[in-house]
Amino acid sequence: MKEINVGILGLGTVGTGIAKILINNGPLIASRLGAKLVLKKAADLYIDKDRGIYFDKDVLTTDPFEVVNDPKIDIILEMIGGQTIAKDLILKAIENGKHIVTANKALLSSQGGMLFKAAAEKGVTIAFEPSVGGCMPIIKTIRESLAGNNIQSISGILNGTCNYILSKITSEGVSFEDALAGAQTAGFAEADPTLDIEGYDTAHKLAILSSIAFGMEINLKDIYVEGITSISAMDIEFARQSGYRIKLLAITKFSENAVDARVHPTMIPLSNPLSHVDGSLNAVIISGDAVGDMMLYGHGAGMMPTASAAISDVIDIARSLINNSASFVPMQSFQVAQIRDIPFRSIDDISSCYYIRFSAKDQPGVLSKISGILGNHQISIKSVHQTEQKLNGAVPIMMLTHVAKEVEVKQALAKISSLDAITSKPVVIRIEG
Ligand code: HSE
Repeated sequence: MKEINVGILGLGTVGTGIAKILINNGPLIASRLGAKLVLKKAADLYIDKDRGIYFDKDVLTTDPFEVVNDPKIDIILEMIGGQTIAKDLILKAIENGKHIVTANKALLSSQGGMLFKAAAEKGVTIAFEPSVGGCMPIIKTIRESLAGNNIQSISGILNGTCNYILSKITSEGVSFEDALAGAQTAGFAEADPTLDIEGYDTAHKLAILSSIAFGMEINLKDIYVEGITSISAMDIEFARQSGYRIKLLAITKFSENAVDARVHPTMIPLSNPLSHVDGSLNAVIISGDAVGDMMLYGHGAGMMPTASAAISDVIDIARSLINNSASFVPMQSFQVAQIRDIPFRSIDDISSCYYIRFSAKDQPGVLSKISGILGNHQISIKSVHQTEQKLNGAVPIMMLTHVAKEVEVKQALAKISSLDAITSKPVVIRIEG
């Protein structure tokens, strides 16, 4: 049986999962592929660590360049992460004519354009299913299953850590810190968890999805990003009692030759299926002009789910190699020459319903001043709720608005924040669906 040799860079959580699937499910994969995937080399700084797998003699090395320079290896799985050594190794592997599978969303979202160009020039592919949504086949779905659709929008929960934190606070009332510690212990938080809770991990994934959905250059820097750190248990409880859930959503929409791409906490009604996606699970709803709405749901992080996505990429590449076919599905879903520099719409240009929480001194006339300013900015109040319970001497006033313009909300809140009676910056959550 034909053999295809693969090398792994990094035996952390996902790298170890990949090795486990290659070794434990080898015969199954061979029976589907018609060739044997052989783990030829795996590089990690700690090769003596017990990972619960038996590696053949000479597989492990501490030198990752030994892997990318090995002439017998066809496919490199880059599972180191980060934007320094991982980038150097990918470029070296491409130079050596090897195909790449990577989970490195931070690298792809900021330097993907350059890497895809290098790969295209060399006639190799960079596959990245494990970079977004763990086991969910979101890249394959957009690139292949929906290739006949104009994709109109994608919205989803793409960060398990944030979803776990928000779900734990909603269902068990635990503190933010305890919920984050739980996500870290479970192993799905990034090494630097601020990437998760400040929304950047989600933005990395959204930049990749926007690019392949709309045929645009990868653009991370123009995505609007807000994390979940300003959300309090009070906001979550208010949402719960009002028939909503708060989720960190990634949203990207294409219309009139511009893209509205944003990451922010979002209140969604229980009628939206994303509101029922709890714990560390991820889900996305993709809207296409032929399919309408479709949803993917599954484990967005973790050892085996992410490894499963990486292996599917390896098998796709191996199938092309077996058939001596140079024509892979285009890496970025569109032919290279068709990828355009599509502009992003400013967040100021969107319209939405809003939840706003003010912290105010409990004195006469405050509510009328707030509602007067909102009215002057054409912001219509749908409901108001004030609790008796004081926090640092202030009372919370929660409002839901009808559809308003973001720019007007921003201007109104700047004026309201400068009132003497307002004790801290208002919390704003956009409402979708
Ligand atoms: N830190 C990410 C998450 C891991 O929590 O979803 C998967 O990208």
